[in-house]
Amino acid sequence: SDQELDRRILEAKRRLGSDLVILGHHYQRDDVIQFADYRGDSLKLAKIAEKLHDVKYIVFCGVHFMAETADTLTTDEQIVVLPDMKAGCSMADMADIDEVEEAWEVIQDEFGDTVIPVTYVNSTAAIKAFVGRHGGTTCTSSNAEAVLKWAFERKKRILFLPDQHLGRNTAYKMGITLEQMVIWAPETGEFEDYHCDREDVRMILWKGHCSVHQKFLPEHVHRVRERDPEMKVIVHPECSFEVVQLADDNGSTDYIIRTIEAAPPGSKWAIGTEVNLVQRLAQEHPEQKIMLLSTTMCPCLTMNRIDRPHLLWALENLVEGNVVNQIKVDPETTHWSKVALDRMLAIQ
Ligand code: 13P
Ligand code: SF4
Repeated sequence: SDQELDRRILEAKRRLGSDLVILGHHYQRDDVIQFADYRGDSLKLAKIAEKLHDVKYIVFCGVHFMAETADTLTTDEQIVVLPDMKAGCSMADMADIDEVEEAWEVIQDEFGDTVIPVTYVNSTAAIKAFVGRHGGTTCTSSNAEAVLKWAFERKKRILFLPDQHLGRNTAYKMGITLEQMVIWAPETGEFEDYHCDREDVRMILWKGHCSVHQKFLPEHVHRVRERDPEMKVIVHPECSFEVVQLADDNGSTDYIIRTIEAAPPGSKWAIGTEVNLVQRLAQEHPEQKIMLLSTTMCPCLTMNRIDRPHLLWALENLVEGNVVNQIKVDPETTHWSKVALDRMLAIQ
């Protein structure tokens, strides 16, 4: 039963004591996030992981790339566990390291030594290592603008991986026009949307996206406003350019939470992000009217793979001294991916 699962998870946590920390991303289900010692967006969780010096086991309730980041930022002796190995991220899988290496050659031919690679943390450790080796860095949805500014101080152009939407939305906010952005399509190995002279190109956007956030459409924004003109729309910057332009505000999961927490009673919000977070905010703020931006549910299926039975299985194995589902990045990849992540963490 659910109560039995809860009881056993708490008992395993108690037995592991200070050897264990559970990290939970905001998109986790309620029945899992209740056990997290820390919850946060990707940036916050990465920073917390880095400081957990005395903790033996970090059980990551999130997706694979987040657990890889935690492994990269912790010591060799510390063990990071992902309760279900199938909890991946379809966006991260859209940038394959071999495809990126091939693209890089073509990009160098076209633009010479004027390009710096930046990857959204929603990418594999191999991609983070690639940007680390080539003088670049990582970003999250919370610090994307500061990171792009840092990158433009170093090179004229940025290759942005793997989310075209975060790249486009952030660069546009900084004054780069859509004509100055080209798309790199890995499936054809060609540039797309090349609407300016070569000299004028500033952003090369990898053609990746989040399958959850691309479900939010301009018509959803129009519909909620037609029904209630007082409704404010706030979305995650992984949504399309059109949706972000129409929205009243956009930002990372942490930013969305802080905005709702600061809003006065009676505020009305349509939120364009993963449904677990939207439902939780609606429950925690009954004094406001909070709804999902679209009528269809938008769950991140891979985030939802982490459930109580998987968490319990991972924890009870640790109690027995068995490490299951360890996420271990190889030393060479760890080195360069840490270079990239450390550059990001040093950017204010
Ligand atoms: P945050 O950086 O806001 O945590 O988002 C991570 C993510 O996977 C969004 O889809
Ligand atoms: Fe990946 Fe999108 Fe899920 Fe975030 S919501 S983990 S980007 S698939």
